[in-house]
Amino acid sequence: MRVADEPVVLGIETSCDETGIGIVRGSTLLSDAIASSVDEHARFGGVVPEVASRAHLEAMVPTLERACRESGVALRDVDAIAVTSGPGLTGALLVGVASAKALALSLGRPVYGVNHLAAHVAADRLEHGPLPEPCMALLVSGGHSSLLLVEDVTSGVEQLGSTIDDAAGEAFDKVARLLGLPFPGGPHIDREARAGDPAYVEFPRGLTSGRDMERHRFDFSFSGLKTAVARWVEARERDGEPVPVADVAASFQEAVCDVLARKAVDACRRRGVDDLLIGGGVAANSRLRAMTEERAGRHGIRVRVPRPALCTDNGAMVAALGAELVSRGRSPSALDLPVDSTMPITEIVA
Ligand code: KG4
Ligand code: ZN
Repeated sequence: MRVADEPVVLGIETSCDETGIGIVRGSTLLSDAIASSVDEHARFGGVVPEVASRAHLEAMVPTLERACRESGVALRDVDAIAVTSGPGLTGALLVGVASAKALALSLGRPVYGVNHLAAHVAADRLEHGPLPEPCMALLVSGGHSSLLLVEDVTSGVEQLGSTIDDAAGEAFDKVARLLGLPFPGGPHIDREARAGDPAYVEFPRGLTSGRDMERHRFDFSFSGLKTAVARWVEARERDGEPVPVADVAASFQEAVCDVLARKAVDACRRRGVDDLLIGGGVAANSRLRAMTEERAGRHGIRVRVPRPALCTDNGAMVAALGAELVSRGRSPSALDLPVDSTMPITEIVA
């Protein structure tokens, strides 16, 4: 294997509906090939695990070939393989982990089974360079909503809070469906909201009141908000009145972003952290970004958001974490590494 400080790492991501294969050299992105099965899930309004697994199987080899072609890296030049081993959909994870083992075994290279959430954090190295240590990470996607205190992305991540029901992206998707917008709903709500009044309806801000804050200061809850939107829309329809889609979208989005920004900035202040990273598909939301930057800025907190392609699930983020693990001399996983659909963030490498 070559010098450890600039390792070529191939990353495989299959935890949900994206088959991602990325190749990096140290913190330089060489390729990031993605095949998404999102269109196959659209008519169900959410990701269907069996459909996702089958799509990963079909996409794996072509996506791997594309990643190698686009990077100009041959498989024999890869120093290590990294793969998401959890959390995620078990059947989908199995496709990635089995592929990673096959590559590791045939190439004679180490394999790192890594935590998907830590990989989201590591993605930002590819865009903005080394991560500040410590940094706070707000990860918001269709499958997860977490607030993490990151001392060292390869070994020391503390979960301060997470969603106790729906993930933030899931709430966007469900509310979009209520409003007759396509799946995945986040980008559609974002766009509709630009023409709407964010103060049109004062929707509830979950887990932000007195008693809840004692037990759930850094946790999130979005299912009450989703129900509130549903009730509001139903009442309008019952009265035979049109639903002002842009205004409801803007009011809903305002409620989600208010809670996310408020808790993330509060966490930074209480833990004395000056850098806030936002990742996951919902990080693409224009209002979340603007609101967080504005509120963080008031307290001298810097906000880092990778470009959208690095925020959503991709293989490059897994490779980025793998490269950091190799550079820091962390031990690889065993070749019989399992998948873990509920892998905790205290475990970065399986
Ligand atoms: O990270 P991601 O691609 O996949 C996982 O769920 O892990 O995130 C997808 C989620 C979807 O729920 C989608 O609606 C949401 O991210 N999303 C957005 C925006 N773009 C994507 N939510 C709000 N605003 C957006 N602009
Ligand atoms: Zn994700």
